[in-house]
Amino acid sequence: MNPKLLFFPFLATLLLLCHPAHAECEPATCSNLTVRYPFWLGGPNLNQSSPSSASCGHPAFEVWCSPDGVASLRGSQILVLSIDYTNSSFVVAHKRVADGGDGVCRTDFNISSSLALSPFTVSSSNLAICFLYSCNGTEPPEIDGLVNATISNCSKPIYAYLGGSYDRDKPPAIKAGNCTYSYLPVLWPESPVNLTAGTNYCPQFKKGFVLEWQKNGFGDCDACNASGGQCRYNNDSAAAFACLCSDGELRGTICAGELLFQFPLLSKT
Ligand SMILES: *[C@@H]1O[C@H](CO)[C@@H](O)[C@H](O)[C@H]1NC(C)=O
Ligand SMILES: *[C@@H]1O[C@H](CO)[C@@H](O)[C@H](O)[C@H]1NC(C)=O
Ligand SMILES: *[C@@H]1O[C@H](CO)[C@@H](O)[C@H](O)[C@H]1NC(C)=O
Ligand SMILES: *[C@@H]1O[C@H](CO)[C@@H](O)[C@H](O)[C@H]1NC(C)=O
Ligand SMILES: *[C@@H]1O[C@H](CO)[C@@H](O)[C@H](O)[C@H]1NC(C)=O
Ligand SMILES: *[C@@H]1O[C@H](CO)[C@@H](O)[C@H](O)[C@H]1NC(C)=O
Ligand SMILES: *[C@@H]1O[C@H](CO)[C@@H](O)[C@H](O)[C@H]1NC(C)=O
Ligand SMILES: *[C@@H]1O[C@H](CO)[C@@H](O)[C@H](O)[C@H]1NC(C)=O
Ligand SMILES: *[C@@H]1O[C@H](CO)[C@@H](O)[C@H](O)[C@H]1NC(C)=O
Ligand SMILES: *[C@@H]1O[C@H](CO)[C@@H](O)[C@H](O)[C@H]1NC(C)=O
Ligand SMILES: *[C@@H]1O[C@H](CO)[C@@H](O)[C@H](O)[C@H]1NC(C)=O
Repeated sequence: MNPKLLFFPFLATLLLLCHPAHAECEPATCSNLTVRYPFWLGGPNLNQSSPSSASCGHPAFEVWCSPDGVASLRGSQILVLSIDYTNSSFVVAHKRVADGGDGVCRTDFNISSSLALSPFTVSSSNLAICFLYSCNGTEPPEIDGLVNATISNCSKPIYAYLGGSYDRDKPPAIKAGNCTYSYLPVLWPESPVNLTAGTNYCPQFKKGFVLEWQKNGFGDCDACNASGGQCRYNNDSAAAFACLCSDGELRGTICAGELLFQFPLLSKT
């Protein structure tokens, strides 16, 4: 038998055996949410025995998990409901509007300006719902599609209006009259929303809205993983990303060195 053929599986096994275990950066869970790069589980109220270290993910992607299993971005008002790693988007809800049964009364603020959203963007796949309130004792202006969204729990009248696709920088141009105006993103509903007077839109707000992050803005984790590496946050590199390879080395992108160079070398022996 050709000795090369024996040598190859031997070295491959050796590489596997030497693969360092980095349990602290394994994907973690908070209730049914899987938290992995660029997200990582941090914060003071970790519901797990060993908190993951800051190098497991990007600082902006730190998720706190409350003892009752509610995930939030660094303990803020932004609750993380689900994460889609394939299209780099995640669904969040603002605690203030998601809490309680009177969410409609609590929509008197602009979600985007109330938060430090960077490096995230509010997805244009969201529907914008606009609210007019605090009309200073006057009637709200007459606008097509404006409905009275005041529910019994609201202490002051509030009026709702559908704004189409959410664009943080281009709020729907409506004349608010003497009212104050806010606009909030919600998940695009599966069936058309019929804005009707007296409807409680709270369930819609509980479902949250979509935030996006730049797919490869925090390193190409898929490529690193595919090359056998583990994704890490590395503050010392310009890319703020490192690929931890089975030899224990941190590389800038992928562990290609092992695959592309060592294996061709082997076949020459
Ligand atoms: C996670 O659990 C919540 C309820 O706790 C549920 O609404 C949601 O659909 C679950 N998500 C997945 C992906 O299973
Ligand atoms: C918190 O941790 C305990 C023990 O590991 C587990 O049984 C429980 O399901 C966790 N709670 C949530 C909400 O993840
Ligand atoms: C991401 O993918 C999920 C599941 O396929 C889908 O529901 C969601 O709309 C997508 N989000 C964006 C922003 O494309
Ligand atoms: C009014 O508030 C109470 C207590 O917060 C809540 O249980 C109830 O569902 C609310 N009613 C509506 C119509 O939202
Ligand atoms: C929300 O943003 C719009 C457009 O930028 C602005 O006209 C409005 O005053 C803001 N509302 C609040 C409550 O800050
Ligand atoms: C909207 O509904 C509330 C509560 O039913 C009511 O107090 C208010 O007068 C209504 N506004 C208008 C313009 O009809
Ligand atoms: C705003 O209120 C003033 C009185 O306070 C009234 O004269 C004016 O017509 C109102 N404007 C609109 C657009 O309702
Ligand atoms: C409503 O009245 C208050 C106090 O008079 C004033 O500060 C506010 O700007 C008014 N709002 C609008 C939309 O005119
Ligand atoms: C909204 O209205 C349309 C047409 O009037 C109707 O087909 C649809 O079922 C309504 N949707 C809901 C959620 O009520
Ligand atoms: C890397 O790939 C493995 C197997 O395909 C998968 O189980 C793991 O979750 C991936 N990790 C990341 C961070 O994508
Ligand atoms: C990351 O790097 C920046 C600038 O290079 C520095 O100001 C910051 O303190 C570093 N953060 C950590 C956690 O090391």
